[in-house]
Amino acid sequence: MKWSQKIVRSLAMIGLAGLAVGLSGCRKQSSASDQKIVRVGILQLMDHESLDAARKGFISELAKEGYHQGKNLKIDYLNAQGDQSNLRTMSERLQRDRNAVNLAIATPAAQALKQADAKTPLLFTAITDPVGAGLVKSLKTPGGNVTGTSDLVSVAQQVDLLHQLFPKAKRIGLLYNAAEPNSVYQIKIAKKAIKKLGLKSVSRTVATTNDVEQAMRSLCQEADAVYIPSDNVAASAMATIGKISKEKKVPVVPAVEAMLKLGGVATKALDYHKLGQQTAKMAVKIIKDKQNPAKMEVQRPTDVSLQVNEEFAKVFNISQQTIAKVK
Ligand code: TRP
Repeated sequence: MKWSQKIVRSLAMIGLAGLAVGLSGCRKQSSASDQKIVRVGILQLMDHESLDAARKGFISELAKEGYHQGKNLKIDYLNAQGDQSNLRTMSERLQRDRNAVNLAIATPAAQALKQADAKTPLLFTAITDPVGAGLVKSLKTPGGNVTGTSDLVSVAQQVDLLHQLFPKAKRIGLLYNAAEPNSVYQIKIAKKAIKKLGLKSVSRTVATTNDVEQAMRSLCQEADAVYIPSDNVAASAMATIGKISKEKKVPVVPAVEAMLKLGGVATKALDYHKLGQQTAKMAVKIIKDKQNPAKMEVQRPTDVSLQVNEEFAKVFNISQQTIAKVK
């Protein structure tokens, strides 16, 4: 039932957007003032809070910069519902639309759009490792039609936070989707950090959200505490992870705030709404100032802060004093 609804919704979206493409095609010939409408495409991997926040931040900042939807801005927003083949067809559509700029949210979306379109300026946001994902040549000089904002915060710092809160935890569990380059990258750093602290890591991988419950249960039998990177599959099953964490009394430190709310104890995280806003400022440079993405440096989050989930902190006996002492 849920799936069929989703399919109907995305078909409707494609239909509407197709109509819009048709309409704007007509408009081009009709009047000169209408040509001032800036067209922006957005391809988002799936719905979860961080990605939604980045998209909303992007759109709200465009408005602050004078680009208003329904007036001088037309946004074509496509959501792939986590489906790889959706990503492909939607990318091809955005490529045909010849937008002023496209925005891709999360790694698989950016990879699909880059592959489909080597010409339209492509901004990405919420990307852990833009170089490793093959999106840019280097952070400083991207080189192609692609640049944007990375959401990488210090994984080592997050592992260190876990160790400060749970110094007795010797075996650190890791849960992630091995098919996401963003996760593989973070896990590599996490394993090193865990080893450096003299602790042991144990991992479970998942392919879809359906695997998460079993993987988390099995992980809890071996691990004293769990670290979860900014992994798209884990993020969309975070409520399940939180439930098992409580039930098995194994605390979780996740990489991002949206995951923390549903089932973690604490994290050091960035603000995705702000990251989206930062990305919109880059969009304006492309749209208004005609800057070339090839030469626009990839930007990083401006600040991170310690976040605590009070409910879970209580469950795991983490006091205010302990939190105040966190370095
Ligand atoms: N960084 C992830 C990527 O590169 C996307 C992402 C952003 C994410 N925020 C998240 C994933 C929160 C899970 C949880 O694809």
